[in-house]
This record gives sequence, C-alpha cells and structure tokens, in this order.
Amino acid sequence: MPSPQPYSILFVCLGNICRSPLAEGVMRHFVQQAGLDQRFMLDSAGTGAWHVGNQADCRSIAVGGEHGVDLSDLRARQVEREDFYRFDLILAMDASNLADLNAMQPSDGTANLALYRSYCNDGQKDVPDPYYGGDQGFEAVYQMIERASQVLLAKHG
Ligand code: 4NP
Repeated sequence: MPSPQPYSILFVCLGNICRSPLAEGVMRHFVQQAGLDQRFMLDSAGTGAWHVGNQADCRSIAVGGEHGVDLSDLRARQVEREDFYRFDLILAMDASNLADLNAMQPSDGTANLALYRSYCNDGQKDVPDPYYGGDQGFEAVYQMIERASQVLLAKHG
C-alpha cells in the first residue's frame, strides 16, 4: 500500500532566524526521535527578507545545542506564494505574523493558517520575539516550542 502523504507544516516568524528555525529544528528532532520522519514535511520561513540566506541567530543555535538540537544547517528564506498551496498547516509565531500571512494568502490557497502558540494550550497568543532581548528570552521561547512540538506530534504523528 502506498504510504500516505506526509503532513506538512511551515513555521513562520518575522526574520526566520530566531523563533521559526528553532521551531523547525525542535520539531524535526522530536519527529526523528519518534521514528516518524516519513510522516512529516517541515520547513520554516520569515515574512521579512532581511536575513534571507543567513544561518539562524547564534542565540537560537546555542539554546538548541543546549537541548541537543542542531540548527546549523538551516538558512533563512522568505515566505512565498507557493507555500500557501504546498503546506497543510502554516503556523505563525505571533499575531502580527499571522496578519501578514492572511494578507499574503491567495484566495484559493489551501493551507490552514493558525497561531503557533495555540498548540501550547496555555491561553497565550504570541511567542514573543526574543531578537532584542537577552539569552533568557531564547530559553523561554525554547520551552514554548518544546511544549507545542509535543502537542503537534501527538496530534499529527
Ligand atoms: P524572528 O526574530 O522573527 O524570531 O526571526 C527577528 C529576527 C530579526 C528581526 C526581527 C525579529 N529583525 O528586525 O531583523
């Protein structure tokens, strides 16, 4: 029997260097640990273009490394029109990212758009942007991402 199509998720933030690459890397790590590589297709992107082609922010790479997640291969890219047809689910890291995605979405786009933090089940809307803060902001973001990844895995794995 042919295997079912993988469930595809695109993680989106503003720059694609802090939050969304960490979300992609942590989810990939959990998916691999669960032996479900064939079940998911994962990627991340930014609504902005400032960091296209860049590695993740060194603070995201560091916090990932502290938790056994390697982000060194990831490179930033910008959200593109095709993403709204290629992905089953596009998860925005905050309400501003979601508003930008809603404005970009083609009228016949097939992806479901939602707030990433809704998967934390903590009643909060946004994964706060840690870019201008200190290292503790990145650890707090990591904890939200770990929680959401477990919920995503349980729901779609
Ligand atoms: P991210 O964080 O959206 O989590 O990747 C940011 C990265 C860069 C900028 C803003 C937020 N920036 O203004 O360059």
